[in-house]
Amino acid sequence: MESVDILIKNANELVTLQGKNTPRTKHEMGQLSIMPHGSIAINDGTIVAVGNDVRVTAEQVIDASGKTVIPGFVDPHTHVVFAGSREFELDMKLKGHSYMDILQQGGGIFYTVGQTRKASVPQLLKESTRRLDTMLAHGTTTCEAKSGYGLDTKTEVKILQTQNTLNQRHPIDIVSTFLGAHAVPKAMNADEYTNIVIDEMMPAIQKLATFCDVFCEESVFTPKQSQRILEQGKTHGLIPKIHADEIIDTGGAALAAKVGAISADHLLRSSTKGLREMANKGVIGVLLPGTPFSLMMSEYASARTMLDLGVSLALATDLNPNCWIENMQFIVQLACVKMNMTPAEALTAATFNAACALGMQHTVGSLEKGKQADVLVLDCPSHKFLPYRVGVNLVSTVIKKGTVLYGSKQP
Ligand code: NIG
Ligand code: FE
Repeated sequence: MESVDILIKNANELVTLQGKNTPRTKHEMGQLSIMPHGSIAINDGTIVAVGNDVRVTAEQVIDASGKTVIPGFVDPHTHVVFAGSREFELDMKLKGHSYMDILQQGGGIFYTVGQTRKASVPQLLKESTRRLDTMLAHGTTTCEAKSGYGLDTKTEVKILQTQNTLNQRHPIDIVSTFLGAHAVPKAMNADEYTNIVIDEMMPAIQKLATFCDVFCEESVFTPKQSQRILEQGKTHGLIPKIHADEIIDTGGAALAAKVGAISADHLLRSSTKGLREMANKGVIGVLLPGTPFSLMMSEYASARTMLDLGVSLALATDLNPNCWIENMQFIVQLACVKMNMTPAEALTAATFNAACALGMQHTVGSLEKGKQADVLVLDCPSHKFLPYRVGVNLVSTVIKKGTVLYGSKQP
C-alpha cells in the first residue's frame, strides 16, 4: 500500500470543486462536485489522491467524520501592507460623512499614506504579519496584496519589497499588485501624477509585481488616465486589474474589457453594457461586499445580474484600513445575505474563481490530484454552514502545501 504524509478521511462532505479549469459562471458556479464520505491523501505538499476509496498508509490521519473539507480560501483583493489604523473614521461615517468626503478632507487613503511613509520595513513586516496570521487562521491560504499607500516611488518600492519578503517568510502565498495609482497626491493634478506612475514608478517596480491596478473613479483617475496606466503596465509585463465603478459608474467595467484585464473589482455601480462587455471578454468580477458593509451602505453589487449576464464572479475581503476584514468566511456570509448568492456559488467565488482572478487555478482553488495541498477542515457537516453559522471561526484545521498549520494533530 502506498505511504503518504497525510490522509484526511471520511469527510461528511469533501467539496472538491473539480471541473473545468477556466473561470466558472452561471449554473457552473453552483456545482461543487461534492463527494460524500470522501478522503484525500497528501504527499510532499501535493494532493495525490481524492476519492471514496483512498487506500494508503499515512504518517498522520485526520478523521473528518461529521466535518466538511474544502480548498483553502483564495483572497484575490487585499491591501494587507499598511501602517496604523483608522478606527476614528467610524464616528465620521456614523455622522453621515461619505468615503469621498473623508478622502477629500485629507483622511482615508491619505492618512494611511502618511503612516505608511513613516513606517520602517520591520514595522510594516510586523503589522502585516499579524494580519496574515489572522487570515491564515480563518482559512486563507493564498492572497493578492496591493501597494498603493506610498504614492511616491520610494514608498511604493518599499511596500512591494515588504510584500515579497512576506511571501518568502509567511506560509500564505502572496501575489503582488502595483497600485501606485491609488489616489492623486495633494500637491499634483491627476495627469502629472499619472506621468510619474508611468515614467518613474513602473520601471522601478516592474520586477516586484505581477499585476497593475488603478482606482478608476470620479475625482481620482479617469478612464482615460486609467487606460494609459494599464496599457503602459502591460509593456512592463504587468497584467491589468482595476478598481471599477465602486462609487459611481465611470465606465470602469467596459475599460476592463477593453484593456483585457484579468479582473474588475467592486462593480457596485457598473452598467449592464459594461458588465456584458466583461462577460464577452472573460473578465472576472471580483466582488467585495465587505466594503459597502464597512461604509454602512445599503446597496451591494448586483451579483445575480452579473451571473445572468455570464460574468464569472470571485469574492475578496478588500482588507484595508477602511475595511479591516481578514476573514473570507465573513465575506461568504455577506455574499449570501446581501447579494443573494447561494452558499455553493459563494464558495466557488471564494476558492476556484478567486484563484482564476490571480491566474493560479492550475495550482490552487480546488481539491484535485496534482494540485498544491491547500486544504481546510471545517467544523460543520456541510458547506452550507459557512453562511449560516455566523460570527465564529468554522475552520478547525488549515493545511498549507501539505503542512498542518492550525488544528489538532490527531493520531
Ligand atoms: O478598495 N477604493 C480604493 N481603495 C480601497 C480603500 C483604501 C482605503 O480606504 O484605505 C478599496 O476600497
Ligand atoms: Fe481595494
